[in-house]
Amino acid sequence: MDGNGRWARHRGLPRLKGHEQGAANVRPITEECVAQGVEFLTLYAFSTENWKRPGEEVSGLWILLGNFLELELPTMMKNGIRLRTIGHTHELPEEARQKLSATIAATAENKALTLILALNYSSRTELADAARSIAEDARSGALDPATITPDAIQSRLYTSEYPDPDLLIRTSGEMRLSNFMLWQLSYAEFYITPKFWPDFGKQDLRAAIAEFHKRERRFGGI
Ligand code: IPE
Ligand code: MG
Repeated sequence: MDGNGRWARHRGLPRLKGHEQGAANVRPITEECVAQGVEFLTLYAFSTENWKRPGEEVSGLWILLGNFLELELPTMMKNGIRLRTIGHTHELPEEARQKLSATIAATAENKALTLILALNYSSRTELADAARSIAEDARSGALDPATITPDAIQSRLYTSEYPDPDLLIRTSGEMRLSNFMLWQLSYAEFYITPKFWPDFGKQDLRAAIAEFHKRERRFGGI
């Protein structure tokens, strides 16, 4: 969800106003996902590198997350949205963690769309966590190193129960992954738009999905 800060700067507003606008954009985008039959949407909300930002911005983001969860719960229930997270959420402030677990529990039976928030997420850390888990199993004798396959890694990722993304949308024109789902995006189609996240609307999502349907996916075949 890149470009909140620039969206605000272009309007002479503080960066947090951009994050507020970005958070407000989640509702229409999830509604359009449901309308389009998208079953999984992951939003990269906070990376492990984002702690480097000024303390005021970081704490503002956690307050915003809590407000977002409270405000959006009725809509999530109405629209059939199941909330999940990936990342080291145990390192988040207590209040954000509590609101997250309450929302995850309340929406657990919803079926239309799984909305996965990547919070304090790092793909390299995720892979290191998977490697550690494999090493522990090898040391205990539960796993023979000779039998380690890609599946052994996949099943230890935070995303083990979700399909790999088909489509990666990056807003604000940046052409990089920024430590996001390095493993899972192996065969994803990339769609990069110059629009800042707060300006990325339902129509833009429809355009991205239409572009996705034009791609020829060969998965290494011919
Ligand atoms: C939002 O956009 C992403 C978050 C980390 C919350 P940015 O805050 O990265 O916006 P820009 O890149 O400064 O425009
Ligand atoms: Mg950015």
